[in-house]
Amino acid sequence: MSARTSPLALRPDTVALHTIGADHERRLSTGVAELDRVLGGGLLAGSTTLLFGEPGVGKSTLALMSLRALAQGGAAVLLIGAEESAGQVAQRARRLGPVPQGLDVAITTSVADAMALIEQRRPEVCVIDSISAMSDEDLASVAGSVPQVRNAAERLCSLAKATGTALILVGHVTKDGELAGPRALEHLVDTVVRIEGDRYGTLRVVRALKHRFGPTGEVGLLEMVNEGLRDLPDTAMTLGGDVPDVPGVVFTVTNDGSRSFLVEVQALVASSSGSPRRVAHQVSSQRLSLMLAVLEARCDIDVSSSDVFSATAGGLAATEPGVDLALALAVASAAVGFSIPRSLVAVGEVGLAGELRAVSGLTRRVREAARLGATSAIVPAAGELDDVEGVEVARCSSLVEALAVSKSTPA
Ligand code: TYD
Ligand code: MG
Repeated sequence: MSARTSPLALRPDTVALHTIGADHERRLSTGVAELDRVLGGGLLAGSTTLLFGEPGVGKSTLALMSLRALAQGGAAVLLIGAEESAGQVAQRARRLGPVPQGLDVAITTSVADAMALIEQRRPEVCVIDSISAMSDEDLASVAGSVPQVRNAAERLCSLAKATGTALILVGHVTKDGELAGPRALEHLVDTVVRIEGDRYGTLRVVRALKHRFGPTGEVGLLEMVNEGLRDLPDTAMTLGGDVPDVPGVVFTVTNDGSRSFLVEVQALVASSSGSPRRVAHQVSSQRLSLMLAVLEARCDIDVSSSDVFSATAGGLAATEPGVDLALALAVASAAVGFSIPRSLVAVGEVGLAGELRAVSGLTRRVREAARLGATSAIVPAAGELDDVEGVEVARCSSLVEALAVSKSTPA
């Protein structure tokens, strides 16, 4: 008798919630501390995690590192590769260190084959690299199309639930930043993790965009080195040192998830040949335009006929409003030609009237700056701030005031 004709057989049993222990949610550590942090401790049995990012950012490396660590710890793992040969995967694995036993790989692009393998081997953790390359020959649409990718993800997801396998689906993004088709996967999976970073730089940020079983917005910081991705519990950057102060360089602290990161904001103002250029790398181009307008209107610093380049050093993006003040000061210092000491951090949002506006988590930011060697800080007059030892704080209500303070702060 089918379930459909017998509703009684379908009637679910109740369960007393207090009888379900916390071990029900045992998380498998991925062996990468910064990834575990983003996942809220690790992977949950039966859950599906979509790991996506641009080509070359390190998705395959991160996934393989996790499997390697899990295999080392005795977990049954399986890598289903759909884009590379076993030899290529082995080559990547060797870069990460000695290859442990039990790190098994199967090469296929067939969903049915992948499912059969999972059913047969019952791995605790399985990586599909990538979901974009998996297809079902019974479906009419071409491999890589949205229906194919969605079908593959749907079927693998339910199988993971049924077998208790923690599944990691690797996905690509197209150049416009959308998951190729798999944007449509977001609602299917339990967790969506993005790896961000400039593929030519070494810094990588991992971030949970969706998380059914834990926090979202938590970020992890990693560095791509010769032997894979290395955890960076803190930004490696420090203030001060022997580097001379130069115009156009201002430090700030940006808040991301529950963490604060020190960021060096740089600006260069150069005479323009032709129409003036505005370049913003790892800072918001919109906020840069705003700062240029405010500098001109409120501070009499006019760069309208010059090229303006702005960037963060070190590769960490800083696009939130709390970075405004550092960006504005960096441009002002580059345009006017004075330098701001490296022992100073500037934090605050700048409004259209040139006013400094309060930002979230100010105490946390100033503490992080102090820990890394800051001795002075320019912050908005508004907003709560606890005393932070070792940092002389100037509370300013406008950009004009902040500019004056930054010029008069001794190195
Ligand atoms: P990869 O994980 O293949 O990126 P994705 O799967 O996102 O396309 O790795 C991308 C780059 O990382 C590659 O150009 C080589 C580099 N890399 C290292 O620098 N160190 C390493 O240990 C590994 C494995 C890769
Ligand atoms: Mg890859």
